[in-house]
Amino acid sequence: MSSKSEEKLPAHVVIFPFPAQGHMNSMLNLAHLFCLTDFHVTFIVSEFTHRLLLKNTSVPATFAAYPGFQFRIIPDGLPDDHPRFGDRIPDIVPAVSNTMVPLFKKMMADKHLLASPGHRRPATCFVADGFFSFAADFAEEIGLPLVYFRTPSAAYLWAYFHVDDLIQAQQIPIKEKSMDELVKGIPGMEGFLRGRDLPGFFRTDDVNDHLLQSLAAATRQVVRAQAVIFNTFEDLEGPILSIMLEKLPRIYNIGPIHEHQKSRLKEKKSEASIVAGNFWEEDRSCIDWLNDQPPRSVIYVSFGSLTVVTREQLIEFWHGLVNSSQRFLWVMRPDSITGGDQIPPELMEGTKEKGYLVKWAPQEEVLNHPSIGAFLTHSGWNSTLESVVAGVPMICWPYFGDQTINSRFVSEIWKIGLDIKDTCDRLIVEKAIREVMEVRKDEFLERANGMAKMAKKAVERGGSSYGSLDALIEYIKSLIIS
Ligand code: UDX
Repeated sequence: MSSKSEEKLPAHVVIFPFPAQGHMNSMLNLAHLFCLTDFHVTFIVSEFTHRLLLKNTSVPATFAAYPGFQFRIIPDGLPDDHPRFGDRIPDIVPAVSNTMVPLFKKMMADKHLLASPGHRRPATCFVADGFFSFAADFAEEIGLPLVYFRTPSAAYLWAYFHVDDLIQAQQIPIKEKSMDELVKGIPGMEGFLRGRDLPGFFRTDDVNDHLLQSLAAATRQVVRAQAVIFNTFEDLEGPILSIMLEKLPRIYNIGPIHEHQKSRLKEKKSEASIVAGNFWEEDRSCIDWLNDQPPRSVIYVSFGSLTVVTREQLIEFWHGLVNSSQRFLWVMRPDSITGGDQIPPELMEGTKEKGYLVKWAPQEEVLNHPSIGAFLTHSGWNSTLESVVAGVPMICWPYFGDQTINSRFVSEIWKIGLDIKDTCDRLIVEKAIREVMEVRKDEFLERANGMAKMAKKAVERGGSSYGSLDALIEYIKSLIIS
């Protein structure tokens, strides 16, 4: 640092999320929390996702209010018209490692490129998506402190820490007959986690499966970071987090991060809008529709940003919903269905009477609407936390990855919903909806409300996540070498 005034410059954090909706949402929230604390932030986005943010969100406007924030836009190497959604999502993984990461490394190699003399320091901390194995070696090479941000649950990471033990004990590959047996060897989860609840990518016949091994490799890198951030809170995953301190010396649990952002904005009496990084345009007509429905009468159906269902599965869900006689609001992304688009006329009739379909909804607002009684979800971690904060019971139909383990926690540990994983037979869907919306409605609502109170308390002054964010901020400040 050349002058006294430069010494006073705040920390400069470079944040690099994997460019998919779920990852982007929580890491944009983190960026906003850092801006609120006057850190300088460089946020790495692909050209494609940046275009979507410009088109569908107030994100650029929100961050324009923080002079210390800057986007750095990097191409992902895929053609402009490549869909990057639905069944083409897997194409993003090699695109990021083959194009974005090398360009990012080149950019970062010049320490001063992201800086601005007298106004912004060179980067003082790198917050990488927990998905990025390259980050540990790279941060070490350029001498930049690394903090990983794990966008899924802590339980998911903990399960991954034990992949090798499970392979050695021949619990992976998971045998068909062991799907309902309890898994041994993951401390803290032994009494309730079955074969079928293990992370979705553990379901392989080949222990050398590329996806299984590459995610296990990413997990091994996490321990090399100076610290790890989780979007979770003590009352939700406390026991797992405590055990995890054996492997990770510095953990910061600052979630639910979307609610944390609100709490800090309120405390600062800030007028800034909340960040929601939608890739699709929100159809707000569903709020008008919800306004006309009785309290707690509607089941909200959404399978997140990545799930792809077959036409057969779609029809089963649809029959289950219509036969349950409950009202429903269903998010059907245009890229989320494979195998034809013929819909039986009786389902269209049933939907006219009781349902409403949109391509993308303002999900947080929907979940907090008084007409919503339950959430039929794919158990993505953001969706799970949003439902927890809103006090909405869930029916879980996990699709992949962390979702299979999240849904087990919803049903067996927090007891705020049902887990129907691995089947979407119309009778099962109908029965689960009746159970949550009618038969056991009060019981689920009471527990969901209790959990919502704990979530909100965690992010208010004096709460565990509030304190953890303060500690993280102090830690990042301590990394500045003047
Ligand atoms: C997946 C994983 O399952 C998740 O756990 C991981 O951390 C990231 O990748 P995804 O399918 O995107 O995530 O689900 P989820 O994590 O639930 O995120 C979806 C986000 O999109 C939520 O924040 C949700 O509010 C938002 N959304 C979804 C909308 O805003 N509108 C919609 O109509 C549907």
